[in-house]
Amino acid sequence: MNIILTGFMGTGKSAVGRKLAKRLDMEYLDTDELIEEREGSKIYHIFEEKGECYFRKVESAMVREVSRLDRYVISTGGGVVLKDENIKALRRNGFIICLTANPEVILKRTEKTGDRPLLNEPDPGKRIKELLRMRQAYYEKVDFSVDTSDLGMEEVIRKIEEVLRKKNESCSYRPGGA
Ligand code: S3P
Repeated sequence: MNIILTGFMGTGKSAVGRKLAKRLDMEYLDTDELIEEREGSKIYHIFEEKGECYFRKVESAMVREVSRLDRYVISTGGGVVLKDENIKALRRNGFIICLTANPEVILKRTEKTGDRPLLNEPDPGKRIKELLRMRQAYYEKVDFSVDTSDLGMEEVIRKIEEVLRKKNESCSYRPGGA
């Protein structure tokens, strides 16, 4: 089984994912990093040169591919939830966790890097709020969510470990001891 980390830009998917994988002794991969490797281009440039629609196609193909793996922690790009086929593929062999954060925190975390094509706007704070509103229903389709706004990395990981432990306990429970 894989553990999938999704959520809006700047919610900590990659940093948490990398550390979580080490902690659980699982492999780690990041779909955006793999896309950049395969395409030989940064996500930012893919958007600029080929457009978002092309990126979404490549992203879905990548999701189909990584969904066949096992025992991986997989961080996805924040827009992966927008296509139902992506969620279905990831869920087949994965437990999907969404990291969230409030718009102010997201703005602070993302403005440091400036490499998010969707936030490359005169008023990124306004855009973050719009996108969060548009995507809210999609981010709610996941199995578990953690609000990372006021949490350190350790606390986020502890919450994830706790839910995984509960999930495993309930899976191994057999009424009547069968
Ligand atoms: C996107 C999020 C980005 C990247 C692309 C689109 C999105 O990944 O996939 O810029 O639509 O939310 P991060 O969430 O890792 O920044």
